[in-house]
Amino acid sequence: MTEANKVPVLTIDGPSGSGKGTVGQLLAQRLGWHFLDSGALYRALGVAADRAQVDLGNKAALARLAMDMDIRFTLGTDGDCVDVMLNGEEVGNVLRTEESGRRASILAAIPDVRRALLQKQHSFRQLPGLVADGRDMGSTVFPDALLKIYLTASPEVRAARRYKQLKEKGFDVNLHRLLDEIRERDARDAEREASPLKPAHDACILDTSQLDISGVVEHVQGLLQQRRLR
Ligand code: C5P
Repeated sequence: MTEANKVPVLTIDGPSGSGKGTVGQLLAQRLGWHFLDSGALYRALGVAADRAQVDLGNKAALARLAMDMDIRFTLGTDGDCVDVMLNGEEVGNVLRTEESGRRASILAAIPDVRRALLQKQHSFRQLPGLVADGRDMGSTVFPDALLKIYLTASPEVRAARRYKQLKEKGFDVNLHRLLDEIRERDARDAEREASPLKPAHDACILDTSQLDISGVVEHVQGLLQQRRLR
């Protein structure tokens, strides 16, 4: 076992709006562990491509950009905000738009881009532990994670959550359009060949449609406690 493999990892995967970001951040804060928002890496690459005027069809240039980008996260003290610095510039708000999610899901289907981001994701694995949120954290990036969670919820519930979140952040959004965008992004993420969106074979699947965030956090923390006592 290498030094990095001794660091415990909790993976939380699932589609957009399943609650994985909020649940992951709260758990990271409670546990005092590091937090990886892997979706933000893909979103940030979309922004970096835009800034560098690299076309989303230019796979080789995108993979190079992915390798070179300098991205850092800082977890806010209230647990519900993460500052994201891309090449020295704070880009948190730019990353949260639906357009940035759409661009991210296009780049995320490129195998060389995924490979280029793999090492960056592994570098987040540091003591005392890591909570990693995304689509393929349990299936591909951290296959030896201590506990793998896959959160899901109906597209309607997820669209309503995203609507509320974006409204609260002051974005002008339309619920029907959000639902269409979520369905379109789910289909692209699930149908791609490279690391498609699906639960790892050993993941615990939790449908959060009828659950509130604190219920999910308590439940996952209980599961983690059991694993650590094994
Ligand atoms: O989680 P988030 O909505 O920020 O992710 C944006 C997009 O990035 C997803 O729709 C997906 O295409 C891609 N992604 C991915 N693998 C991850 C995290 C995100 O392919 N681990």
